[in-house]
Amino acid sequence: THRPSPKAPPRILVIDDQGPIRSFLCELLAHDFNAQIGTAATLAEAEAQLRKGWDLVITDMTLPDGNALEAITRWQAHEALPPVVLISGFLSEDYIAEAKRLGVAEVLAKPFRPEALLDTVHALLPKTPQHERHRLPELKALGDDLFAMDRKMGFVFKIFSIPHREGAHEITKRALEVAVQIEGAQGGWMALAERARNRLVWVAGSVEPSVREIRLAGSKFEALLESGEEELFWDTEPSWPGLAPQQGFSLPITMQDEPVGVLTLLGVDPAAHRDIDRRQLLALLLRRLDVLLDNQAMQAALAESVRETLIALVRTLEARDRYTKDHSRRVGDLAAKIAREMGLDEETAELVRVGGLLHDIGKVGIPDAVLLKPGRYTEREFAIMKAHPGIGDAILKHMDLLVRERQIVRHHHERMDGRGYPDRLRGEEIPLPARIVCVADAIDAMTTHRVYRKAQPLSFAVEQLRKNAGTQFDPKVVEAALRLIERGEVRSQADEAPSAEILLPYSAREDFITEA
Ligand SMILES: [Fe+2]
Repeated sequence: THRPSPKAPPRILVIDDQGPIRSFLCELLAHDFNAQIGTAATLAEAEAQLRKGWDLVITDMTLPDGNALEAITRWQAHEALPPVVLISGFLSEDYIAEAKRLGVAEVLAKPFRPEALLDTVHALLPKTPQHERHRLPELKALGDDLFAMDRKMGFVFKIFSIPHREGAHEITKRALEVAVQIEGAQGGWMALAERARNRLVWVAGSVEPSVREIRLAGSKFEALLESGEEELFWDTEPSWPGLAPQQGFSLPITMQDEPVGVLTLLGVDPAAHRDIDRRQLLALLLRRLDVLLDNQAMQAALAESVRETLIALVRTLEARDRYTKDHSRRVGDLAAKIAREMGLDEETAELVRVGGLLHDIGKVGIPDAVLLKPGRYTEREFAIMKAHPGIGDAILKHMDLLVRERQIVRHHHERMDGRGYPDRLRGEEIPLPARIVCVADAIDAMTTHRVYRKAQPLSFAVEQLRKNAGTQFDPKVVEAALRLIERGEVRSQADEAPSAEILLPYSAREDFITEA
């Protein structure tokens, strides 16, 4: 490796994808430290350069071929890196923490004063003989302009990297974060209108509000949502009930150019707010948000129709067997109850409800002769039956929309001890929603009449759940289910008057807890 001698000029590698910034930094460093400078515009170029040995690396965060932090991790695995200075216009707390963890020597937020960089470089190059520093004033001014341009480009990049597949909640949250950064605001919030119910609902904010919705009619936002053009200014009044009064402004959020909500930014410097670059960026962000929300609404409608179709398919499937009629609906409902009892959020409860509805959809592919067989399965028949989670997975695979539901379908017969199927996952390897549906499925199987046996009383289900917690079932899920049973929220058909259907002959098939 390269060893700096006290007399040799310091060697500094500058990594930045923007030519003007690269040359600005080079000029600055060459001037002040008489340094020998190498440059790279991409991480790949930097990697090739690194072998030449440097005393210091100065790198931008986001390069065309990736993120510098990820590259640093990669490089560290192969060689001893010289001190690294990271410069970026977009430093989230996460990035700074990650940079510190990786041993990055200094993190500088753009735009920074050139002296700040020079001081940092000086401190990190201990063997360099001190040079007289004489900055050129015009160089500094040029630097400010360059950084402003770089910052703007960075925001454009940021606006377009808001993930579009993450759901409306994540989209609004990220868009708000970017808006706050563009405006240099202290915070803000976003709310969407629900016109049918005449209200404005809080969807994202830098603080948690005490009230999540307000009446739209008669509120300050009514006009803004009518015209879609006005801008509301805040000063002495709170912008949302419970918030402290703060200087700021509200703009309409649109979808297909129709106003659908409100973006409010608070703690804003009024002079900066008039800045043309900021106005342009904010307009671009709102335009992008329009497209993303519209896209999201379409996706949601599509997902809903796919879900409906699949649920109809499950009903058809269950109609083949009078004993499993409504089984999937009950499993879904019970799974959602268990999820809530475990303190999981509504989104997860809804996920396991739909996952429960669909869990046995793969049985579509199982022949009636096997599916409806009243007696004990042969080994071969059981093997056929065991294919249903995989078949269900294959059915849903083509629908990108139900990715998490698919995991439930595939893994609802896995066991905590790894003896389940199809992938023999164990413990936490099994997605939690699948572990929940597994317990709900077993409870419903035990407490309802089947073609091969009568329903068992709840006491039997309780006993089996306790006995198999930890081996077959997730103990935490079992605990929640037992609490529901204790509170009388689960019923067994064994405790109800028998219907004509179940008075028909049935035969015994053992081991129904592990049945397919
Ligand atoms: Fe199943």
